[in-house]
Amino acid sequence: MSEARYPEHFIAAIDAMAALAPVIPVLKIDRLEDAVPLATALVEGGLPVLEVTLRSDIALDAIRLIRAEVPGARVGAGTVTNPTNLQQAVDAGSEFIFTPGATPALLKAALEAGVPMVPGIQTVSEMMTALDLGYQRFKFFPAAAAGGTAILNSIAGPFPHVRFCPTGGIRISNAHEYLSLANVMCVGGTWLTPDNLISSKNWDAIRDLAAEASALRS
Ligand code: 3PG
Repeated sequence: MSEARYPEHFIAAIDAMAALAPVIPVLKIDRLEDAVPLATALVEGGLPVLEVTLRSDIALDAIRLIRAEVPGARVGAGTVTNPTNLQQAVDAGSEFIFTPGATPALLKAALEAGVPMVPGIQTVSEMMTALDLGYQRFKFFPAAAAGGTAILNSIAGPFPHVRFCPTGGIRISNAHEYLSLANVMCVGGTWLTPDNLISSKNWDAIRDLAAEASALRS
């Protein structure tokens, strides 16, 4: 029996999502009451694709709530590190999955769960393992620490069909350097949702940060 392959239509689904905005906010939501106003501010600012990280006890509930109550939001789960997390994220309604790394178990679990996934990779060999299964869209993580735009430029030569969402160390000041690369489909980051603005419920300021980021591709 041939091994299952990542379906081509998931690659198209990820490309369509990346086309919605140049930046995917990476969210850590600690209080459920913040989920809807935070997501609403980001969507209103022009960033509808949200990565809700499984880094808090209420993350899965936050995913459910945003899906139910924030029109226009496209919600996925991030910091998914094992197949159990992945299935929980899918059950909570995640439309897509981001992972910090690409273990064989995770690459297989997304195929079995039937969910689009953007696996995190840092090396060409990790990427090639996932390419063998049909994955072609990756989170390059941690982007700045692992070589930034220079390494992405170098990878484009042998792998021109691969596209990345670099994340890790990206801010408004350097995002445009990544977005100018042909193999970068979007970037991700936490800079849009600073802890102090969330704890002070300064949704207007978060909307402004999102608007500034969404204008990176206009
Ligand atoms: C992630 O989980 O993708 C990272 O924490 C994002 O890194 P950043 O905080 O440097 O944006």
